[in-house]
Amino acid sequence: MGVAQSSVEEIRHERTGIVFRPGLDGVPATQSSICDIDGQQGRLSYRGYPLEELAAESTFLETAYLLIWGELPTTDQLKAFEHEVQMHRRVSFRVRDMMKCFPATGHPMDALQSSAASLGLFYSRRAIDDPKYIYAAVVRLIAKIPTMVAAFQLIRKGQDPIQPRDDLAYSANFLYMLTEREPDPFAARIFDRCLMLHAEHSLNASTFSARVTASTLTDPYAVVASAVGTLAGPLHGGANEDVLAMLEEISSPDQAAAYLDDAIANKRKVMGFGHREYRVKDPRAVILQALVEEMFERFGHDELYDVARALEAAAETRLGPKGIYPNVDFYSGLVYRKLGIPRDLFTPVFAISRVAGWLAHWREQLGANRIFRPSQIYTGSTQRSWIPLESRLPTAGA
Ligand code: CMC
Repeated sequence: MGVAQSSVEEIRHERTGIVFRPGLDGVPATQSSICDIDGQQGRLSYRGYPLEELAAESTFLETAYLLIWGELPTTDQLKAFEHEVQMHRRVSFRVRDMMKCFPATGHPMDALQSSAASLGLFYSRRAIDDPKYIYAAVVRLIAKIPTMVAAFQLIRKGQDPIQPRDDLAYSANFLYMLTEREPDPFAARIFDRCLMLHAEHSLNASTFSARVTASTLTDPYAVVASAVGTLAGPLHGGANEDVLAMLEEISSPDQAAAYLDDAIANKRKVMGFGHREYRVKDPRAVILQALVEEMFERFGHDELYDVARALEAAAETRLGPKGIYPNVDFYSGLVYRKLGIPRDLFTPVFAISRVAGWLAHWREQLGANRIFRPSQIYTGSTQRSWIPLESRLPTAGA
């Protein structure tokens, strides 16, 4: 229908000359000063600070502050932000009661999306031009999302959620609420570094979703809920869960090459590999792999790591020439598994972290807003005449 395919990546509409790039590959959809990716060199920075430095020196809350407000906080600003987040960790008993009605068999990402959206009911004032409202919404979302993730985990096991502990820092408190045990400080620090690594990554699908939702000037809870729903898919955040299932299926390092050959021959995606932005190994995967090794040194080895390394080695010659290397989701699950986090909570943990990036983009979008309303290339029928009911043929595929 008037569409000429000029290459795999680009489709030109004959009548209008408009060019469509599937998946908006290479099409800028915004200007942003939050995160910079160099996909050829494998470099990533938040607000100009290299990720490696932040992961070594900062904390998740400090990094979240940097992402959202653009500058590293002073001592007083950081103290105030940490205190505010600590004060807002609890969720209303109504949210907990609502979560008790969720099916225990439901996926925790669906539970999180519903609970995040429900915050809009509790904080229904919408004053997106008021800096105090924005600050309060940021604090609430960063504070309450971990509590909701941990609450669903306990509720689905038939237990009552436990209350946050004010004497524990952000990451340690989450692990405590999840496992009901005070975590080893070393493990809590590793987890906090994982959160920093996942906090922001420019215009990925969930962040784009957040910005599109933000551009309608709706409330921040709807912005985050739409982003959580987008993050859940296996091509995006959901891949971290699938990587572990894949490693378990491969089960032994000497099966890795055969698994890869079979996946490639049957055009199956290998989970945890590939990225639209990177042609080299994702810098976050490099740091996460180092964290995996630190964890194992302290808490013992995991044989699935040997499988992962064998798969990465086999992929070097098979996928490397196409620029397909491990991404952020490849090694993260091995850290989470060692921390005792159940596999289907890996993506909710990603959301706990990425909420910082979504909120940074929410603010940035509000700062120079124009509603997203892209065009399309119509490929359907034209000029059809009405068909009376008795003359119609059955619709194929319905
Ligand atoms: N395994 C095997 N082949 C792959 C893979 C993979 N993981 N990723 C890309 N390819 C191939 C793909 O088959 C295609 O080959 P061909 O040109 O011969 O048809 C080519 O590389 C381009 O792939 P694409 O799917 O068009 O690339 P994209 O930029 O649209 O997709 C991606 C990027 C991340 C969705 C994709 O690499 C993928 O599906 N990876 C597996 C899922 C995954 O790990 N997702 C997490 C992404 S990173 C973190 C996050 O976003 O949450």
